Amino acid sequence: MAKEIKRIGVLTSGGDAPGMNPAVRAVVRTAAAYGIEVIGIRRGWQGLITGDFVKLTSEGVGHTLSRGGTILYTARSEDFMTEKGRKRAVGTCKVLGLDGIVAIGGDGTFRGALELSRLGIPTVGVPATIDNDIGCTNYTIGFDTACNTAIDCIDKLRDTMQSHERCSVVEVMGRNAGFLALYVGIAVGATAVLVPEKELDFEKDVVERIQASRLAGNTHFMIVVAEGVGSAVEIGHRIKEEVGLDPRVTVLGHIQRGGAPSARDRETATRMGFYAVKAFVEGHSNSIICTQEGEIVEIPIEEALAMKKTLQMYRYEVMEAMQIGSHFERPKKK
Ligand code: F6P
Repeated sequence: MAKEIKRIGVLTSGGDAPGMNPAVRAVVRTAAAYGIEVIGIRRGWQGLITGDFVKLTSEGVGHTLSRGGTILYTARSEDFMTEKGRKRAVGTCKVLGLDGIVAIGGDGTFRGALELSRLGIPTVGVPATIDNDIGCTNYTIGFDTACNTAIDCIDKLRDTMQSHERCSVVEVMGRNAGFLALYVGIAVGATAVLVPEKELDFEKDVVERIQASRLAGNTHFMIVVAEGVGSAVEIGHRIKEEVGLDPRVTVLGHIQRGGAPSARDRETATRMGFYAVKAFVEGHSNSIICTQEGEIVEIPIEEALAMKKTLQMYRYEVMEAMQIGSHFERPKKK
């Protein structure tokens, strides 16, 4: 029979993402509904080492649904990478009487959760990162809000680029993945989108696309660059040298991590937080709460960490097709 769960901890770790607060709120309120106490661990895994915590109540997490960032603070803990640090974290769990930890974050957070579970502390992960780069889940909390923030900024940039008939090079986040760049690029009708998943052919991917856009009558151009490709400033220099335009470069940076979570992020975070607590209640922890085809699935943490997700290149093709004058080769009839 599964051990009765009386008290759990919840933490947010790694880069923050809009929707982390709704996830914490959902954990607290679901736990309360099952008569489980929740301790908020502040500053991620580091707080578990130093014993930095706060008791969370259903009332206390009120009015957090619409707040960006994380009320629990976050950190990337180097101490937790060490055995000594992890042992101290286990000690904190014992002192606080925690029957498990809900860890909200990305890949690094889940690797930490796996290590902790190996030391006997049950863990459940909730994926939250604006990069959407977690293999086991179609969707990570924060991605939609970050896309909307980037789109909002690029729409504004377009106004001035259009007035001055300029080329804009915009760098978006995403670490080593191009999900954010490609979604945003499609949504703003970018002239070109550069993603790390596709080897850069500058002539074809940038020069020819600007020329085709020009031929179609455009006088301003929007180039979206995923940070994983390299510096947008460099891309700007190359455009100046090879196309003869005088681009303006904008690095959107951390603004993409802020802001009130979108409807999608609030709803997904709430469902994921709910199922994270349910996993503990039903006695199947050491897992990650994922979405597949929009539905929640729970995957054992080791299996989940081994799963890979690649950018769907058909989306790249969709982006390319949106340019007036695109020419695709048709498959030969057999
Ligand atoms: O993983 C989220 C993310 O925002 C990435 O897109 C980006 O590369 C990184 O974090 C930035 O990290 P930091 O906040 O440490 O600068």
